[in-house]
Amino acid sequence: MRPKDISSGKKLFKPICITCHTPGGQGPDLSRHELKYGRSDAALFRTIFDGIPNSGMPGLYESEDTVWQVVAYVRSQLPSKENQAPKQDQNEQVRLGWKQEARYSVMECTPIVAHGVMYIVTLFSRVQALDAATGKVIWTFDPFKDDQFHGLKRGITYWENGDQKRIYYVGGPRLHCLDAKTGKPISTFGSDGSVELAKGYDRQVTYSSYNSPAVIYKNVIILGSSYYSAGEPKMRAGIERKPPPGDIVAYDIDTGKRAWIFHTIPHPGELGYETWPPNAWETAYGANCWGGMTVDEKRGVVFAGTAAPYYDPPRHGKNLFADTVLALNAETGKLVWH
Ligand code: HEC
Repeated sequence: MRPKDISSGKKLFKPICITCHTPGGQGPDLSRHELKYGRSDAALFRTIFDGIPNSGMPGLYESEDTVWQVVAYVRSQLPSKENQAPKQDQNEQVRLGWKQEARYSVMECTPIVAHGVMYIVTLFSRVQALDAATGKVIWTFDPFKDDQFHGLKRGITYWENGDQKRIYYVGGPRLHCLDAKTGKPISTFGSDGSVELAKGYDRQVTYSSYNSPAVIYKNVIILGSSYYSAGEPKMRAGIERKPPPGDIVAYDIDTGKRAWIFHTIPHPGELGYETWPPNAWETAYGANCWGGMTVDEKRGVVFAGTAAPYYDPPRHGKNLFADTVLALNAETGKLVWH
């Protein structure tokens, strides 16, 4: 703990923390307080960075270095017994094992680890496999090779069966199926290892993508959809854009053939059709699940929450199945309940 860190930490503590952490303030007077939430550096870091749920203590969403400086200052203020990180907690201390530089801090991807390999999606939609212990890059899959932003991605889907290990990943408009060991497309899936999502609907769509990792049940992979913003522009680069309806679509994990579709904007004759204007099934969009789904593997049910619908004029009637929680039979796509 360097004196410089303590004085930098103090500069932050004064304007931000002192309002509460002062005798008679909302928070405890840290110079006379026995810590309830742990004394180790790691515990202090957590408390200060995350805040304390259901209390007045907010999180400090600053860079790692900044938060460590505040930790250093707080520790210097604690009563002497609390001042040192306790010996038995030393092992618990956060030590940075390795670090991958991302050009920006915006990364929505949740890394997953399987058999010692970590899989991530970078800001520019590249998939990387890293040695989870060292951070060394094992392979990179880049469907674009253009250093452009293709939408934020929340991660990939890992699947294995015996010797076969695969990564499913939506990069821009396509669902890719990769060999988890090499990062190479599995050519028997779709067309040379990928399928174009816009082709998976029952009406004409010019593009579709999905920001969340898809879910797998038995031999189908199930996807929602996402587009860039509410109220999509009708034209982009001189081309009329036809956004996807929010339909939930499942593909065969081996062939990439469409297995089933659930129309979140019902077609004529389907349950809920009468809750929309008559032509909505051909033109309205939204009503999409972009936040990810979960599968109840025991019951074979997939759960999806859908977003608001978009059409002109907006939102007459009940608009089933927009803004809805859906439970679908994961094998067939049939509605179980909503
Ligand atoms: C809006 C008021 C508020 C602000 C601002 C605030 N705190 Fe707190 N803090 C609290 C309260 C209230 C608690 C006690 C929560 C409890 O005991 O459940 C607390 C608890 C803590 C604890 C844990 C004490 C323990 O018992 O383990 C630490 C450490 C702490 N604050 C540090 C900070 C630092 C550092 C800052 C500034 C970056 C800060 N706080 C800003 C209200 C605040």
